[in-house]
Amino acid sequence: MAQATIHVLPRPYQAWIENGLLTRAGSILGDLLPQTSRIFVVTVAPVRKRWGAKFVAALKAAGFAPQVILMPDGEPAKRLATVEAMAEKLVRMGADRKAVIIALGGGVVGDVAGLLASLYMRGVELVQVPTTVLAQVDASVGGKTGVNLVAGKNLVGTFYHPRVVLIDPTVLKTLPEREFRAGLYEALKCGIIGNVELFLRFEQSRAKILKRDRDELEWLIAQSVKLKAEVVSADEHEGGLRRVLNLGHTIGHALEAETNYRSLLHGEAVAWGMIAATNIALTVGRTDSVTAGRIADAVLSLGRLPEVNVSAKKILARLQNDKKTQNGVVHFILPREIGKVEVASDVPERAVVDSVEELRRLSRGGWVWGKN
Ligand SMILES: NC(=O)c1ccc[n+]([C@@H]2O[C@H](COP(=O)([O-])OP(=O)(O)OC[C@H]3O[C@@H](n4cnc5c(N)ncnc54)[C@H](O)[C@@H]3O)[C@@H](O)[C@H]2O)c1
Ligand SMILES: [Zn+2]
Repeated sequence: MAQATIHVLPRPYQAWIENGLLTRAGSILGDLLPQTSRIFVVTVAPVRKRWGAKFVAALKAAGFAPQVILMPDGEPAKRLATVEAMAEKLVRMGADRKAVIIALGGGVVGDVAGLLASLYMRGVELVQVPTTVLAQVDASVGGKTGVNLVAGKNLVGTFYHPRVVLIDPTVLKTLPEREFRAGLYEALKCGIIGNVELFLRFEQSRAKILKRDRDELEWLIAQSVKLKAEVVSADEHEGGLRRVLNLGHTIGHALEAETNYRSLLHGEAVAWGMIAATNIALTVGRTDSVTAGRIADAVLSLGRLPEVNVSAKKILARLQNDKKTQNGVVHFILPREIGKVEVASDVPERAVVDSVEELRRLSRGGWVWGKN
């Protein structure tokens, strides 16, 4: 079993990564929480259908009496209205300040239930039990919660760390193929940022990974979580180091927004963004062509990505309005070598435009999921 500690004040916490962990969740929580805790499991229908009974049974076996709160599925549910509706429900169910909220689901459930836990009665205990690759390697660790506004994604939120993160990679076997692969790009990102061995695994065991070999996934997820835990421990609030986690996200976010969050999943946008960042790094002389080629190959060999048919000028305009832009300067995370990245604030506009044009060229003849 692998464990990663997230060193934050006032209370560090652990992420546990183990195949089959869902069935041990009750005993682990039994050691961490008072036996009298009232547990509320926030989840969505597709996850409840596949894993709800198993998880609830594990909690009951440990003496808890969990109650399930269902929220609507999908990104459109990431709204303050969902938080309010669930808070009302909690009151009706008699939840007090000793309530424990467990987020059982993907990043949407984690973000919404996390925000709910941080606000309900000014804050109740939270446990993250992520069930998508993206949520396991990224969203469940680090304490960011949030919902969307009409004006943009994640514009309202809090930093609120869970008591513990319980990661069972075996739940990924029921994940739709496209969601599964989209999450893998975030794991690959962790390799590029700071774990050569993890990157090599993508080069050498790709077939096993794509077949969802359970041991391969368990290892890969544990390594990714450890990297994220280290970065968050060093820089909880994204003052500096945490920005490296945004590799591929500068252009990725702009691509998502420019395509109205319709044609690309987040991980797919990050995949394109990592290729763009790699091209930029090559253009401005931060990396060499061998490294750039390996990164692009590792991304593209995980499967075909939806086509990006966007205007490079519009992407540039969006970058300049990004909430992470400081004083009009766009920061890019650029790969230097495998396992090493750096922050660059001096990327010429031309290099950005060229990198987006290159994405269009690469993706020509690409395909849109669901339509082929
Ligand atoms: N807080 C953070 O640090 C952070 C980081 C990255 C992303 N996010 C957020 O995460 C969200 C995306 O998360 P996501 O990609 O997990 O999407 P998601 O939560 O919408 O889940 C994707 C789909 O998979 C289904 N699903 C989940 N687990 C399943 C399983 N085991 N088997 C079958 N189906 C399953 C869900 O019901 C949903 O339909 C975005 O809103 C993003 O902003 C947050
Ligand atoms: Zn991401």
